[in-house]
Amino acid sequence: MRWLGSLATRLMPVAFLLIAAIAVAQFWLQHAPSSTALDDAVHHVTGFLHGHAWWALGMAIPLWLLFFLGYFRERQRLAFPDSSVGGYFMDILDRLTNRSALEARLAEQPDAVFIDAEQLALTLKSKVIGQDAVCDDMAAQIRRRLALKQRGKPVGVFLLAGPPGTGKTYLAKCLGSSLQRRLLHFDMTQFASGGHGATQLFGSSKGYVGSDNYGKLTAGLRDAPDAVVLLDEIEKAHSDVQKNFLTAWNDGFITEASDGKQISTTQAIFILTTNAATDALQSLIDQHKNDADELRRTSTNALRESGFAPEIINRLDRIFIFRPLSGLDIARVTALEIEAMIKGYGLDVARGGIDPELLLDMMRRQGRLGSGASARDIVRLAEESIADTLIDAKQKGHSKVSLVAVDGRVVARPAA
Ligand SMILES: Nc1ncnc2c1ncn2[C@@H]1O[C@H](COP(=O)(O)OP(=O)(O)O)[C@@H](O)[C@H]1O
Ligand SMILES: [Mg+2]
Repeated sequence: MRWLGSLATRLMPVAFLLIAAIAVAQFWLQHAPSSTALDDAVHHVTGFLHGHAWWALGMAIPLWLLFFLGYFRERQRLAFPDSSVGGYFMDILDRLTNRSALEARLAEQPDAVFIDAEQLALTLKSKVIGQDAVCDDMAAQIRRRLALKQRGKPVGVFLLAGPPGTGKTYLAKCLGSSLQRRLLHFDMTQFASGGHGATQLFGSSKGYVGSDNYGKLTAGLRDAPDAVVLLDEIEKAHSDVQKNFLTAWNDGFITEASDGKQISTTQAIFILTTNAATDALQSLIDQHKNDADELRRTSTNALRESGFAPEIINRLDRIFIFRPLSGLDIARVTALEIEAMIKGYGLDVARGGIDPELLLDMMRRQGRLGSGASARDIVRLAEESIADTLIDAKQKGHSKVSLVAVDGRVVARPAA
């Protein structure tokens, strides 16, 4: 019935005019019976109304009803201007804010994006070895979060925890390239000393308006709002610097200090990495393999005990725990590293061109480095043992090579 009320209010003047017009016509007819063209017209209309009395009554009664209904609603609306009485009341937003500006801002919000989680997981797994569970989970999380049309917060704030050299930083890079988003990579160990660090990230208030001393993070997100922001080894940053990120995660924007501009973070993906609490997290992931809630609760505690700020932990959307590389996965990473190195020298590797003995030898040497050894050691070992022979092969004009272990040395042989 609301619509009837508001219709009545709008039509009240029309109803009134119609009634008045009919009354004037009748009056004219009775008191000024001279014969002009106008009289004829009026006569015609009123004659028609008289001839169709029921029809006229049927029209007049609703007209009067409409008039009174409109009249009373309007009177109430004027008496209580803040209420919704009256049908076409003023919208709360029109009264209390700038509604069109609000609507324009809402339209700016990121649209829902649908990605193929399976495809993303496959791409990630093909690059990041031995972390299948993390890759699957990460792809599913990102799919769900991108599909939300309005969130007012970043797509995700994800913590990657685990031993060094297990692919945490690498996964963030792969995520950026798989999603075709720019990667803003910050080595947080650089911000161990408070004040100045925040300036580098969020700009300096000393700058005058218009000067281009934007912070690296603010400028990066201004230019690429949907970037993957990698805060590498976050726990090494000063706690003040860490806390500067809270508005980015809670409120959906950061403020550039030089000109006070707010820069949206709602399209960005934040990836934090840490080596903290590695051992504790490894045993927790084994204990609570099938209980995600319990795993989250206990790993949160472990991170807190290792000195992580509770505000930061509370704001994490998800914690992904990386496994130490083992067995054939070490061989896979080693082979990939060797392939990258061969390509780095402008050469190609023949199919099946890496001698298994070579891989075994590297795994043995890496194993000897103890449990702290990581993929980074593999890179170093590979460099030591194959760089020279690759340079020789390049100098001799070969383009495709096989690597063979000969008497404890590695030799790059031209491939057919
Ligand atoms: N799981 C992995 N799969 C493939 N490559 C890896 C993996 N872990 C490490 N690497 C290689 O080792 C390098 C160093 O790993 P990184 O991602 O920096 O380790 P961290 O976990 O300490 O961040 C990477 O650039 C990558 O080439
Ligand atoms: Mg790293």
